[in-house]
Amino acid sequence: MNSMKQIRVFAPASVANMGCGFDIMGMTLDAVGDVLKVEAAEGAGDMCGIRIENRSAADLPEDPERNVITPALRAFMFAMEGEKLISGGTPHADNVGPSLLGGVVLLRGYEPLDVVRLPVPERFCCTVAHPDIMVSTREARDVLPREIPLRSAVSQWGNVGGLVAGLMSGDVELVGRSMRDVVAEPHRKRFIPGFDELRDAVIAAGALAMNISGAGPSVFALSSDMETAARAGEIMKSHFAARGVASDIYVSKVSNRGARVLND
Ligand code: HSE
Repeated sequence: MNSMKQIRVFAPASVANMGCGFDIMGMTLDAVGDVLKVEAAEGAGDMCGIRIENRSAADLPEDPERNVITPALRAFMFAMEGEKLISGGTPHADNVGPSLLGGVVLLRGYEPLDVVRLPVPERFCCTVAHPDIMVSTREARDVLPREIPLRSAVSQWGNVGGLVAGLMSGDVELVGRSMRDVVAEPHRKRFIPGFDELRDAVIAAGALAMNISGAGPSVFALSSDMETAARAGEIMKSHFAARGVASDIYVSKVSNRGARVLND
């Protein structure tokens, strides 16, 4: 490849939904994420002018037509177009918003896009368990009902309000009790072995909340100190191991920093 220009970028991982904020909220992790090298070159690439090389251990598609990066590169506006490819047609920015901007991000509206950054209480720590099971975003969206009862809607928007108020005021207890999802999680938890049992154990160990991370199958717990976050990670690891499922555990502070250029 004839190199013209290249850039290395760190894109932090994010946790979408934060429980009650289906498709409208997400938060950024510190020191967990992907390093991307983007290079512009002459005469390279295949049918769409984009060539993708995966040098990570993860099984990611190098075929540009199957990789979430391609629509984002083509659109070159907001990376949520990539999500449209894997979710079966609905663009949503609750992962890419926090990854790009850092902190907790609220998508107040999509048409037009209205992105609101919310403060992250200093002591927030996040534990993420990624069990070795396959659940596609499309599959996890297909199980959702197209309509929700008014009672569920009332409960959900009460929780979203409580979550925003808790973040604004630094009230971590309010944040914790607001992170309850009555819309998506009841339908998605079947994909995660022993989900309710795991949540009870993690909450009993002192975590503020535990939910499915985005569409799953990862789960995450929010804690107000690193010690509790680490303990939640141990509980998650042994929970999945007891069910014959390997898992990767990440313990991280919630970060106010989004995507950034790395110096070589
Ligand atoms: N908000 C999305 C969902 C996140 O829950 O389906 C997955 O990208």
